[in-house]
Amino acid sequence: MKFKGFLKDVGGASRVARARLEAFAAASAEPVRDDPIGDVARAWHPGRLKLKVVDIREASPTAKSFRFVRADGGELPFFYAGQFMVLDFEIGQSLISRPYSISSAPSQARGKDGFVEITVRRSRGDGFICDHLNDDVKVGDAFTALIGCGQFYYEPLRDAKRVVALAGGVGITPFASMAREIAAGKLDADLTILYGSVASNDIILKDELEALEGPRVRVVNVLSGDEPGWTGERGFLSADLIRKYSQGDTTYFICGPQVMYRFLREELGKLDIPARRVRFEVFGQAKDITAFEGFPGDLKDATFRLTVRRGIREDVIPAKATESLVVALERAGIRIDTGCRSGECGFCRTKVLAGSVYVCPENDGRRAADRDFGYVHACAAYPTSDVTIKIPIE
Ligand code: FES
Repeated sequence: MKFKGFLKDVGGASRVARARLEAFAAASAEPVRDDPIGDVARAWHPGRLKLKVVDIREASPTAKSFRFVRADGGELPFFYAGQFMVLDFEIGQSLISRPYSISSAPSQARGKDGFVEITVRRSRGDGFICDHLNDDVKVGDAFTALIGCGQFYYEPLRDAKRVVALAGGVGITPFASMAREIAAGKLDADLTILYGSVASNDIILKDELEALEGPRVRVVNVLSGDEPGWTGERGFLSADLIRKYSQGDTTYFICGPQVMYRFLREELGKLDIPARRVRFEVFGQAKDITAFEGFPGDLKDATFRLTVRRGIREDVIPAKATESLVVALERAGIRIDTGCRSGECGFCRTKVLAGSVYVCPENDGRRAADRDFGYVHACAAYPTSDVTIKIPIE
């Protein structure tokens, strides 16, 4: 019996093989156009897109919201409330990318009238791209952008239904996206935003956020400055204040300036909150790398030679010890892919062939194997000698 079954299997297999060969011979030489899986993958991850600015409006006396649509009229890709997009700029000889949290809701991006918005505050003297956006960009301008980056979003399988957002300054933007999505009935969570500002005219998106308040969205503005007549909360986002607005099982999302992170780590530590209930947004490149532990202070005024290999091409450019390799490359007009600029996403992963670098300890998001084999994330690596790196060809 077994022997007969074996012969049947062999006969069946050879018939299938013959049928396949006949089908190949009869097939068209044209590639198959119907590719539903590929279509879905491309819709979700279309890579860099061309966007154009269709609206600019004031978000506070010092910030503006910029609305973008796809320049080719197509649909925008999916993203989660809280994620960021990367916008590319060509300024003079420099090729620069910057991440901006999306302040509009994912549901506002759907359909043929879909859009995405970012809200950008003028810098306080340390961010010429923010000032460029606020001062020079106008309706009709076009950019390339990558939409839907980062891990800072609400995930119902992981996060508690109650969310307390701790925001400072322009760190309100991912929470504006979450609040809009909840108010539109597209996100099932209860959100309380504790928003710290120095003065009432620093509050970004004030009217728009107030308009979203309802049973599931609450905004509490907290002023640290001594403003006469302010009747709301005062002070900082202290443990006492956080406790006052927390109830039961809660996930805490934090987005704001670096200095606020250090303060909040201590305050949250007083509240006995499990680590899995606290989510920090990455905070961008270190403002002052010399302030981080282990940075060789005697090098703070040094400039090194950075040799950049791309395929058979080799360029030598200057690189300051206090500026990341990404900044040195961008200054020289050498394109390197970047996303978060916080050491997290790995877009700027770079092989160090020779020389030494200092890696910002708070932004070292490398895998262990990358550390062992001499890779760095160029947005978080600073030269401490002449360095040779290899980057991918664009
Ligand atoms: S840009 Fe994300 S790790 Fe460098």
